[in-house]
This record gives sequence, structure tokens and C-alpha cells, in this order.
Amino acid sequence: MECDFLIIGSGIAGLSFAIRVARLGSVVIITKKNEVDTATNLAQGGIAAVLSGNDATINHIQDTLASGAGLCNEDVVALVVENGPERVRDLIALGVDFVKDTQDSSGLNLGQEGGHSRRRVAHAHDFTGKEIERALLEKVKQNPRIQILENHRAIDLLMVADEQSENGDPTRCAGAYVLSDERTVEVYKAKVTTLCTGGTGKVYLYTSNPDIATGDGLAMAFRAGAVMANMEFVQFHPTCLYHPKAKNFLISEAVRGEGAILVDQHGRSFMEKYDSRKELATRDTVARAIDQEMKESGADCVFLDITHKDKEFVKKRFPTIYGRCLEYGVDITNERIPVVPAAHYMCGGVQTDTWGRTSLDGLLALGETACTGLHGGNRLASNSLLEAVVFAERAAHYCAENWETLSQMVFPPIEPWKAGEAKLLNEEILIHHNWDLIRRIMWNYVGIVRTVKRLQLAKRHMEGIFQEIEQHYKDYFVTPNMIELRNIALVSLLIIQSALTRKESRGLHYLVDYPEALAAFAHDTQFMKKKGGQLGEIELC
Ligand code: SIN
Repeated sequence: MECDFLIIGSGIAGLSFAIRVARLGSVVIITKKNEVDTATNLAQGGIAAVLSGNDATINHIQDTLASGAGLCNEDVVALVVENGPERVRDLIALGVDFVKDTQDSSGLNLGQEGGHSRRRVAHAHDFTGKEIERALLEKVKQNPRIQILENHRAIDLLMVADEQSENGDPTRCAGAYVLSDERTVEVYKAKVTTLCTGGTGKVYLYTSNPDIATGDGLAMAFRAGAVMANMEFVQFHPTCLYHPKAKNFLISEAVRGEGAILVDQHGRSFMEKYDSRKELATRDTVARAIDQEMKESGADCVFLDITHKDKEFVKKRFPTIYGRCLEYGVDITNERIPVVPAAHYMCGGVQTDTWGRTSLDGLLALGETACTGLHGGNRLASNSLLEAVVFAERAAHYCAENWETLSQMVFPPIEPWKAGEAKLLNEEILIHHNWDLIRRIMWNYVGIVRTVKRLQLAKRHMEGIFQEIEQHYKDYFVTPNMIELRNIALVSLLIIQSALTRKESRGLHYLVDYPEALAAFAHDTQFMKKKGGQLGEIELC
């Protein structure tokens, strides 16, 4: 397979980029399950932008910086916020049906979320991501230059040497090895490869993320030698539904934005003890407060109470949440919703510049996979869909401006995939056991509140598991489960190593041994794979 643009992932970042670059050349999007199995599709809250006359660019910039705990790149924040309104208008032009409000100068009904000083979240009730995904997919399917391949998984990036490579090292990405829907490994060559594989939530036992969120793009980029950043900053969403049958159902922050109150098992509110903004404090604060309350009381969950609001308003504003909770026997208009924090968003990732370029030639990264500098130590709610569309446009602009050079790339001969002595793995238990082990280690030792001792223990455990998985990977034919397991093992190890390097508490990274933010750590944690080191070992940049 040869194409101009290979896009790995079919969420908002990948689809937006595909639509914009299709005028330049052929586009292949591969997605490892169905086209809608993306984090975008589950996004409830919306997309933050300065759209109302009551708001101003500086407010959104200040809110983003305050949430980011001193680690945001100020130029990137300004760039994203300034471009936000235009990108939202692009989505509307593409057919995204945000909820309207003629009373507001924006013409839109704008939601409120934690850390925002104004109402600025454009939404489609509580299914904003689904509505955006629908509109983008519709557009993609109308374009004959874009092909979407479902059930195709990238295994590793295809790296080649070019004239700029030192010592003939492979520093240029020329596509990927892909496990097809027929379980054959194929070579996909591309002039530009773009990682849009979403986040890493499945590394943790409890997560709001879809099953696809196994950090594939991050793992592939690291193995290929890319510079990574800030992977210790894992955002835990404060309120996921606590119910044995609800695997990963989010109760949007917009529910708190509309006045819901967090209470303990006795119905007592507690957020006033932690932050004057109470329920609308930033996510790091709210998630830690809930964690503290649960640890002190020994309760399995806390509760979100919106019963004081008009029932019809609640049903209309949150139809998905109302319907899903009702399926689990909770009528949110009459009863409190049991909630717990869960892993939600990776603020770090593959480091990019302001055009979405990674440190490797021919490789771009967009959306949650990328670390652009926008989120710093704690992402502001609803800034992620915004980042995805702003950077998709920037990356497409870069490709258009440089297409004359990029399009001239000549593919060197590429080795086909070698299965070697690999056998068929007929013991899936080897996969499931390790998968479960990793997710428990990460939840118990690398969660919302960390200690150096627990991180060190996690590292030791994970190194052993990681070696075992790498051996399975060599011994057996690749399968979808094997690819994901290998990636979550690596990503876990990267999160732990990053966390161990930051000996302070800042934003989402709270280390009991070092409870204060320290000036010496007011910088990103940039790293890459260690030259001559063990597989998975990092070297700070
Ligand atoms: C939510 O609806 O609470 C999620 C929004 C986000 O993660 O930005």
C-alpha cells in the first residue's frame, strides 16, 4: 500500500486533518476497530472557545494557564485560543449542530465547566463528540481521495534513513507496518504519517476512555526514537459513574457546570473544604478531593446531586446521561449519582512543534497523542477538542506549504515484516493475566496521589512484566491483543519513569514525599529512548 498521507486513528484530529489534506493527495485512514470507536465519540462536554461577547481571548488564555500549573507554553496557549472561534465556525460549516441560543451574541448555548471563568463551551447537549464525529465522517465519506480502513492496526512505524540521517540511522518515518483485518502484516508506505491514536486510559483499571485507548501512537513513536514529554501528567476525571455494569461511563463536568453538587454518603457537601471554587475548581483539585474523602471515610464512591434542578431541564440538557443512568436504575432527577474518579486524559505525549511536527521527519502527531504545550500540568476542561481542530488545521497548512518537497519523497526499498520463528499463541491467558496486572499496578501505585516508594515498586514490577511481554512478542505471531498489551506495558513504564523524575507536586502529579511545586521543576519532562539502554529505558533530553 502506498499513499501520500497515512493517518492512524479516526477521531476528531485524524478526520479533521484528512479532510484538509485530501486536496493535496491520497489519504488512507486506518482505525483499529470501527470508525466511531474513538474517544471523540464519547466526549460529552464540548469544545471551549471565545465565542460570546461576554468573553475575551485573555480570559480563556488565563484560565488555561492557571489550570496548567506553570507548565503551559504561553505561545501555544495564545495560538490555540486565538484560532479557536474560527475552528468552531469551521465545524459549524461542516454541519456540526451545536445547541443554539439566540439570547447569546454567539448564537450558541454555551456551557460552563471547571476552571473556566466564563461560559464558553459549545456543545451538542451531552453528546458533542458523537455529533462532531458524525459530521466529520459524513464529509470524509463524500471524498473519493480518502479511504478509511477499519480493523487495521499499526504495529510499528516504518523508519528509514535519509540524506540527513547521521551514520545512516533511520530517522525518517515512511509509513507503518499494519496488521490487516485478515491478520496479515502489511507495509503501508506514506509520504506523511500522522499519529492520532488518542490517549492511554486503558493503562489504568478504571477509565472513562474507550477500549482503543492503549497509547499505541505514543508507544510506536517512542520505539521509533521520537522525543516525548510530560507523561507523568495523567488527568483523572472526577466523576465517572460508579456501577458494576457501567464500564466507563462519564458524568460530564457540564453537570457540575449546571449546578450539581458533590456530596458524601451522608449527603454532606465537601468541596468547600478544598477550594473556594468548590465543584468548579480544576480537575486535579476535584479528583484529589474525592480521593481524599473516599480514603478518609472508606466509602466506595461519592455522589453527584442535581436533584434540586428542574427535571425537564436536566433531561433535555443531559439526555445521554439521564438515559444511561436510568438503565442502571438511577433516576438522576430524583436520586444522587454514585461517582468515582477515573483515568481520563494523557496531558503529555509525543512532543510536537506548533505545526504538529514531531522530532522525526515525516511524522506528525495530533490530538491526545501529541504534547503540544497547551495543557501543561493539567488540561482545562473542553480544551482537547479545541486543540485537535486547531492543530489539524496547522498541520495541514504546513503540509500544503511544503508539499513540493514532501511529495518528492522517494520510498527506499522496505523490508517486509519478518515473523521469524514465531508460533501461534494459543494461550490467551498469558495476555489477559499481564493486562490485568498492569492495570492494577498502575491504578494502585501510579494513581491520583503518588509516593516515591510506590512508584519505585511499580517500576520494578513493570520492568519484569515488560520483559516477559517483549519475549512473547518475539515468540508468537502478532495478534490485536498482543499489540495492545505490548503498548500498554511500554506506556506504563514511560509514565512511571516520567513520574519518578519529577520530585515535586504540580498539577496532576501529586507526590506525597514532595508536596510543593518547586522552581527547579518548572519545565517539561522531555525524554526519548536511551541509546544503548534496555528497551523501555528513557533518557532525559
Ligand atoms: C466532560 O464532559 O466532563 C469531559 C470534557 C473534557 O474532558 O474536556
